[in-house]
Amino acid sequence: MKNLSPFLIEDVKCIGYGTEATIYQFRADAGRVAKVPNPGYPLLERHLQHEFELGSLLSKEGISVPRMYGLASLLLPEHSRPALVMEYVPGVKVDDMKEMRAHAISLLIQEREKAYALGFFGTDLRRANGIYVPELDKVVLVDFISWKKEGHQCLGCPNK
Ligand SMILES: Nc1ncnc2c1ncn2[C@@H]1O[C@H](COP(=O)(O)OP(=O)(O)O)[C@@H](O)[C@H]1O
Ligand SMILES: [Mg+2]
Repeated sequence: MKNLSPFLIEDVKCIGYGTEATIYQFRADAGRVAKVPNPGYPLLERHLQHEFELGSLLSKEGISVPRMYGLASLLLPEHSRPALVMEYVPGVKVDDMKEMRAHAISLLIQEREKAYALGFFGTDLRRANGIYVPELDKVVLVDFISWKKEGHQCLGCPNK
């Protein structure tokens, strides 16, 4: 697990919202984003560490996921928030698609089934957790807080 340098809110711009976290892109490196828990949500550093571990394992097994870079902190004036830094996926949320929606949903299901066949299991299966990348005609899975892998000793499991 890599601990990366802390960053400031001025270093990033917001590019996506989820129910539990906000995604910021680094201004100095558009290929990287940071996932930061929303205020009031019980997402902790160990949950992001769990997501880092699961994302790294999925990537190693050849599943289409963003590359995981490490954990960092977003420094705010009064406090700091934990952040998971990963590769930026240049695409569109499957849930937001109108054209090619059925095609993207079938790619999303295929990718998940590949992961399940390798012993992974996820419960948060919203279409918002898949990003369609038009240039590559593929879906990249995101958001592994609720994922598990058979036989994997989890360090930061959310339900511990
Ligand atoms: N690596 C990424 N690159 C680009 N957009 C992303 C990336 N990860 C997440 N997103 C976008 O941000 C949204 C929220 O991220 P997500 O990890 O799903 O947070 P939450 O746990 O709040 O659902 C996603 O639905 C997706 O649209
Ligand atoms: Mg999500």
